[in-house]
Amino acid sequence: MFPSDEGKSHAQNGEGTAASLFDRVIDRRGTLSVKWDDTKRVFGHEDVWPMWVADMDFPAPPEVQEALQRRVEHGVFGYTVIPDSLKEAVCQWLERRHDWTIDPSWLVFAPGVVPAVAAAIEAFSEPGDGVVVFSPVYRPLFDLVRRHGRTLIFSPLRLAEENYVIDWNDLEAKLPGAKLLILCHPHNPGGKSWTAAELERLGELCLKHGVFVLSDEIHADLTLPPHQHVPFAALRPEFAAQSATFRAPTKTFNLAGLQAAEAVIPDDSRRRAFRRIQQRHGFFTLNAFAVVGAEAAYRCGGSWLDALLAYLQENIEAAAAYLADRLPALHLIRPQATYLIWIDCRGLGLSEEELKRRLLESGKLAVEFGSKFGPEGAGFIRLNAACPRPTLEEGLRRLGAALG
Ligand SMILES: Cc1ncc(COP(=O)(O)O)c(C=O)c1O
Repeated sequence: MFPSDEGKSHAQNGEGTAASLFDRVIDRRGTLSVKWDDTKRVFGHEDVWPMWVADMDFPAPPEVQEALQRRVEHGVFGYTVIPDSLKEAVCQWLERRHDWTIDPSWLVFAPGVVPAVAAAIEAFSEPGDGVVVFSPVYRPLFDLVRRHGRTLIFSPLRLAEENYVIDWNDLEAKLPGAKLLILCHPHNPGGKSWTAAELERLGELCLKHGVFVLSDEIHADLTLPPHQHVPFAALRPEFAAQSATFRAPTKTFNLAGLQAAEAVIPDDSRRRAFRRIQQRHGFFTLNAFAVVGAEAAYRCGGSWLDALLAYLQENIEAAAAYLADRLPALHLIRPQATYLIWIDCRGLGLSEEELKRRLLESGKLAVEFGSKFGPEGAGFIRLNAACPRPTLEEGLRRLGAALG
């Protein structure tokens, strides 16, 4: 049903260059887009240029659109099974893109990584148990810990010259009081792609203290060459047994509105415990479009993704060049993965309130403000660069007008 695209580029497929795939500006207003249609509720402003929430302004790969169109044309949208062919497509994708061989029986699906992490917190810890989270970090990862009545233990990352690094002394001091550690790999914000050496050391420590690892790898496919994503669980069988990995086709292929994610849980009893929680909440299967979209993406989206990564790299370079030229007081942390640009604005000496006022009211620009990611994020902003170049340039122009 879905011929694999391995080894072919999109240009070879006759579908054009990266520029023609991603340069087209598509008006998303009026499509119930959170990013474009919900800024009044979130920021108090309707007329702001939206470079905040992490989805892309690009259409999904043509093969995914075609598969979904075929499904829509059928017209009957009853309860849907998760077919073995989807599991096979995920396994082949992990093998091809991440050199990670998994058993299809390890896979459990969920409507999102966030609900899957929530289920894992419930399955693998008790109220009051300690959960370590590196900060600053994607907010739901620590909100979930609090909302489940677990004890949130932040281990602040240190900003080194290139990107974030783990404060090993701090981590070693905190692990003995923890049941779980939530890893964001690659890390959001900052786009740090944790190296095999860092993951080895982390895994060793978690094994030593009996801490189970929830590895959110939703941004893994968006690792920017020459960086290479190393799945935590792929490093050693002991790490696989002591972890659950959460992934999705939704960030990679811009399918967030379809809502699909997969958990890889190699240990049988852990996997059963996870499923029991899903069942307790009445979750049994994915929606019809999630199943079709995910399988088409994993089977056919490889060359589209390569072209996307090249385009994103150019956008990131364009943003870096603009900042260096026009806003030298700002420091861009170059992402090793993700399309999210984390910018240190502390050199301006402004409070977050003033930063917000200038960006939203003077610049008419909506970005993510750093304190949303935890206390260590204060003074930073996160800019989403997954958009056609003209959209990015307009955002940068507004940033320059607000902060220049
Ligand atoms: C690190 C991370 N995890 C999870 C998510 C959201 O996952 P989902 O939409 O599958 O719940 C995001 C979205 O930005 C994210 O950055």
